[in-house]
Amino acid sequence: MKILICDKTEKEYIEQMRAAGLTVDVRDDITPEELPNVLPAYDGMVVRSRTKVRQALIDVCPNLKVIVRGGAGLDTIDHEYAKSKGIVVMNTPLANSASVAELTIGYMLMLARSLYKATSTMKAEKWDKKSFTGDEIGGKTLGLIGCGNIGKETARRAMALGMKVVACDPYVAPLSGIQMVTLDELLAQADYISLHLPKTKDSANMIGAEQFAKMKHGVRIINCARGGIVNEDALYEALTSGKVAGAALDVFAEEPPTDWKLLKLDNVIASPHIGAGTKEAQARVGAEVAEKLIDFAKNMQPA
Ligand SMILES: NC(=O)c1ccc[n+]([C@@H]2O[C@H](COP(=O)([O-])OP(=O)(O)OC[C@H]3O[C@@H](n4cnc5c(N)ncnc54)[C@H](O)[C@@H]3O)[C@@H](O)[C@H]2O)c1
Repeated sequence: MKILICDKTEKEYIEQMRAAGLTVDVRDDITPEELPNVLPAYDGMVVRSRTKVRQALIDVCPNLKVIVRGGAGLDTIDHEYAKSKGIVVMNTPLANSASVAELTIGYMLMLARSLYKATSTMKAEKWDKKSFTGDEIGGKTLGLIGCGNIGKETARRAMALGMKVVACDPYVAPLSGIQMVTLDELLAQADYISLHLPKTKDSANMIGAEQFAKMKHGVRIINCARGGIVNEDALYEALTSGKVAGAALDVFAEEPPTDWKLLKLDNVIASPHIGAGTKEAQARVGAEVAEKLIDFAKNMQPA
C-alpha cells in the first residue's frame, strides 16, 4: 500500500509503517494546489489539521482507500462524502485530550490571576502589586459546552482543583460529579465557560449576543475547540462592555486571523491553535496513526 504523509508526523512512526511493509512518502509541505496531481497515485493519506480533504480532491482520487487524520475533529475532511465513495476515514480521538485539557486549565488560572498582564508589567520593570488582586478558581463553577473526551478530561482536572462542574451536552449520558444542565442554565451559573464541542452547522455562532446577555457579569470564556463557535464580533462587544471579564482563545474563525482586533484587547490571551501541541500528544498521535494504517493494510491483504 502506498501512503502519502501530507502533514507533520513523527519520524519514528513513519519508520514503523515502512518496517511493516507500507510504502510511505512524506510531503508534509504539500500545497492544496499540488495535492490533486500527487494524491491519485496513493492508496492512503495521513493528514493533521493543515491539509483539508474536500469533495473535489476525493473526486480525482479513485484509488484512495483510507484517510487517517491525526487528531480529534473530522471537520477538515468531507468524511461523509469520502465514506460514500468507499474510503475508510479514521482519526485518533483520544490522543490529544489530555493536552487540550491541560491548556484549558492553564488558561483558567492565567485569567483568574491576570498572569499575562502581571508578566508584562514586570518585563516593563514595574512593580504594580496593587493591580493584581485576582480570584481563586476553587469554589467557582466551570460550565463545559460539550463534554466528550476533552470535556471529561478538563472536568476531572477542574474538580481536583475544587471547582464545581456543570456541562451541557445533549448527546452524552450523565457523568459522575458533573451536573448536566441546559445551555441556558449553564450560561446563568458558570463563572468560567469552556467550549469542547465540534464546529458544525448547528454549533457555528452558537454563542452570540443573546447568549452573552444570559451570562453572569464578569464571566470568563475559554475556547480551545474551534473558532467560530463563539461569534467573534459578539465576544468583542462583551469583552469591551465588561460583561466578559476575560477570554482565552486557542482557535479563531479564520486561522491565522485577518482581523486582529480581539487580540489587541487587554483582557484577551491567546495562542495559535496549539491545544494538541505537546510532545506527548504528538507521540500518541504518531503511534496511533501508524497502528491504524498497519492494521488497515493487514486487513486489505487476501487471507
Ligand atoms: N485546540 C486544539 O488544538 C484542539 C485539539 C483537539 C480537539 N479540538 C477540538 O475540541 C473538540 C472536542 O474534542 P473531543 O475530543 O472532546 O471530541 P468528542 O467528540 O469526544 O466530544 C465532543 C462532544 O461535543 C458534544 N456536542 C456536539 N454538539 C454539541 C452541541 N451543539 N452542544 C453541546 N455539546 C455538543 C458531543 O456530544 C460530544 O460529547 C473537537 O471537536 C475539536 O474541534 C481542538
